[in-house]
Amino acid sequence: MKKILFKRGAVVSSRGIKHADVLVAGDRIIAVGRHIKEDAEIIDVTGKLLFPGFIDAHTHFDLEVSDTVTADRFDTGTKSAIAGGVTTVVDFATQNKGETLSDALNNWHIKAFANSSCDYAFHMAISDWREDVKEELSAMHEQGVTSFKLYMTYPAMMLNDKEIFDVLTELKRLGCIAGCHCENAGIIDGLRERYAAGGMLSPLYHPQSRPSPCEAEAVDRFLRIAEAVDCPVIVVHLSSQEGLEEIRRARKRGAKVFVETCPQYLLLEDSVYDNDFDESAKYVCSPPIRKHSDRKALWRALKDGEIQTVSTDHCSFTKEQKRAGEYDFRLIPNGMPGVETRPILLYTYGVKKKRISLAQMCALLSENPAKLYGMYPKKGVIKAGADADIVVFDPHAHSVISAATQHSACGYTPYEGVKVCGEIENVYLRGELVYRDGVIVKERFGRYVSRGKPEL
Ligand code: URP
Ligand code: ZN
Ligand code: ZN
Repeated sequence: MKKILFKRGAVVSSRGIKHADVLVAGDRIIAVGRHIKEDAEIIDVTGKLLFPGFIDAHTHFDLEVSDTVTADRFDTGTKSAIAGGVTTVVDFATQNKGETLSDALNNWHIKAFANSSCDYAFHMAISDWREDVKEELSAMHEQGVTSFKLYMTYPAMMLNDKEIFDVLTELKRLGCIAGCHCENAGIIDGLRERYAAGGMLSPLYHPQSRPSPCEAEAVDRFLRIAEAVDCPVIVVHLSSQEGLEEIRRARKRGAKVFVETCPQYLLLEDSVYDNDFDESAKYVCSPPIRKHSDRKALWRALKDGEIQTVSTDHCSFTKEQKRAGEYDFRLIPNGMPGVETRPILLYTYGVKKKRISLAQMCALLSENPAKLYGMYPKKGVIKAGADADIVVFDPHAHSVISAATQHSACGYTPYEGVKVCGEIENVYLRGELVYRDGVIVKERFGRYVSRGKPEL
């Protein structure tokens, strides 16, 4: 069996840095310790950080939505992931109305199988709650799908309060968990109609028709439904201070709630929306990019441990696809790319700016998503027994983000021209070198990860 010995690394975990050697045999890590001696391929990683492969628990690859399909399918999306040090994605298998959950899961297996360059798992987005769908939940669990997404907005996918109550009741029985897209659909519809009636149809009105109170109201309502059921839940892609305050209130009442935010809500501000259609449309996502004060509040919450994961909501559309809404912002497909840039951005603007520690970065990007989504300790940690998913990170390198060097089919990055510190140098997926010095050296090596129950 092939053995690799990483010598003199700085192994990062949620507890800090440990200077150690890491011994890999086949697809597993078999030892972490000082001065390991072994007949193995020796890789000197002096001066480098070794992270457990990053996990992006919020991607939408090959998603049919807004009369189109995301620019990144599993082939380009997962190459983009690997180049960003992401060895596992949890993508959203999404049930279309009229479909069973099994249909949706099969569809996603077909999309991902033999196309994925990183490991992949699936959440299931429930869009059509019916008696037969309820009967399918335990089969989902048996097939390794232990987390579900519920939408409180988007007509094609949203559930009403009673349906959310019923889904959570069933998930509690199974020991599974739901994440929710929290935005108040009624207010959004009303504001959109108002702006449209006034001829205000440029992308500037996208954020204005989905203001923070829409998120805050929905967060509060979702958490109160979860409290009535008495089950832990996740608020995904939290974007606003007002939403965060509702989470604080719920926690004070005793609610168990996990929170995810995304780099776009930590790094971008609503000045990205202006009268230049192509420029603004790139940033049309939901929830929208917020204000400086929201950004600050989210960084603070990360530091204080109020937010458990940072994933991306990678949902990419080319500029041409975005042009569907050139004369009506309501028709712009929502979403942006991000799977390739999250670790480097969190390192540069989180760790280097001392907003979070290296240990926190590791927890937010690897360990916590692995635990929350039932993959720990196979994923999310460098220790004996874990999959040998290892990112060799050079903390001293500098570069500038550019779509030209990225692997996404999107054609743009929201972070074009942004200076970053550190570099994803080499990436190992289950012991195989898949990315080396800017080049993907092994493609389509990804496998399905059947997940266990969330570790709460
Ligand atoms: O605009 C976004 N985020 N699109 C992706 C779907 C979602 O809401 O997560
Ligand atoms: Zn969402
Ligand atoms: Zn999403």
